[in-house]
Amino acid sequence: MAKILVTGGLGYIGSHTVVALMANGHQVCVVDDLSNSSLNVLEGISKITGKKPEFHQFDLRDISATRKYFKAQQSLDGIIHFAASKAVGESVDNPLLYYHNNLGGLVNLLMHTSAKNIIFSSSCTVYGIPDVLPITESAPIKPAMSPYGNTKQIGEEILRDTTQADSNLNVIALRYFNPIGAHESAWIGELPIGVPQNLVPFITQTAAGLRSELQVFGHDYPTADGTCIRDYIHVMDLALAHVIAVERLLNQSNLERFELFNVGTGSGSSVLEVIESFERVNGVSLPYKLASRREGDVVEIYADTTKAFDVLGWKAEQSLDDALKSAWLWERHVRNIF
Ligand code: NAD
Ligand code: WQD
Repeated sequence: MAKILVTGGLGYIGSHTVVALMANGHQVCVVDDLSNSSLNVLEGISKITGKKPEFHQFDLRDISATRKYFKAQQSLDGIIHFAASKAVGESVDNPLLYYHNNLGGLVNLLMHTSAKNIIFSSSCTVYGIPDVLPITESAPIKPAMSPYGNTKQIGEEILRDTTQADSNLNVIALRYFNPIGAHESAWIGELPIGVPQNLVPFITQTAAGLRSELQVFGHDYPTADGTCIRDYIHVMDLALAHVIAVERLLNQSNLERFELFNVGTGSGSSVLEVIESFERVNGVSLPYKLASRREGDVVEIYADTTKAFDVLGWKAEQSLDDALKSAWLWERHVRNIF
């Protein structure tokens, strides 16, 4: 059993990863400033696992709080660093918030911890507009399409440089594609504050009656049905990838001290296919209309997951249908729709 710190552990992906770590016998400590989450998530985690992980609330940009925390936590075996701001549009309006939080928080963490095994939340956004699909880890990093995307590119660089300077430090960066869905129990899931920017929470909130209709952003793209294509991955599959990645570092099985993996399913679905799947598996009809394109959208992207399978032995097990079933179960749970 290892002792793992999960920063941002009450957020969407963090909370599911906390559950997966605990289910695999690890001791978990959570740090979160609750800027995009709530203490209810801690309750949800303990309903599922039967245990409440140790929790500390502070902002990772706060130098004295971070120093104090890591002084007291000498025996951490590893860190999974999720804590960051993630709204692409907000990052365009307020780039300094994103550079401060996503990079300031990361640097502060690195400067104060003595833990030598770190998993970093990166994103397929680092690839920009892909030249070749499916996209592999060796594809070129294109100029970032938003300040948020830039923080993920620079975050990877900071970690790569730091592993070169510190021969005891080992890092795995996981480049997530589009995480969706919820834990099967529906005790935890994705709960965006305000109007959802991402497709699946917008769909579930529309089905729940909180939004009048979904707008499909663009229907004249050069794809089979004219809508954009993404690689939607079930959040519990993604959570398990973190457990495997951190265990790889703990077992010293990593071949390089900075490693990168795509975490997706390897296949793409269009927006209309997601809607069709959601309606079919849940037996609900979703009001939607075809609308104009959203600025900055990539037409098509999905992962080549060969490296994750060959090296980590990980692959996504759950389907788009499974993920959309769990997403609707979670939304109904939150809204008391039975
Ligand atoms: P989230 O907002 O649900 O979770 C992030 C958590 O971190 C929140 O609970 C928030 O309160 C906390 N946090 C933020 N800044 C903090 C700080 N300075 N100090 C302490 N806590 C802080 O987001 P998520 O969807 O779970 O994403 C987790 C990570 O994965 C992020 O780094 C994100 O950029 C990355 N990522 C997300 C997606 C996605 O589509 N959700 C895709 C690729 C990568
Ligand atoms: C998916 C598809 C939309 C909402 C974003 C970030 C990316 C990564 C994942 C963190 C697109 C369409 C959406 C709606 C729609 N996050 N859509 N109507 O854009 O792939 O990626 O989240 O790293 O960085 O940019 O995800 O869920 O916003 O959109 O038609 O109301 O759904 O146009 O084709 P995206 P998304």
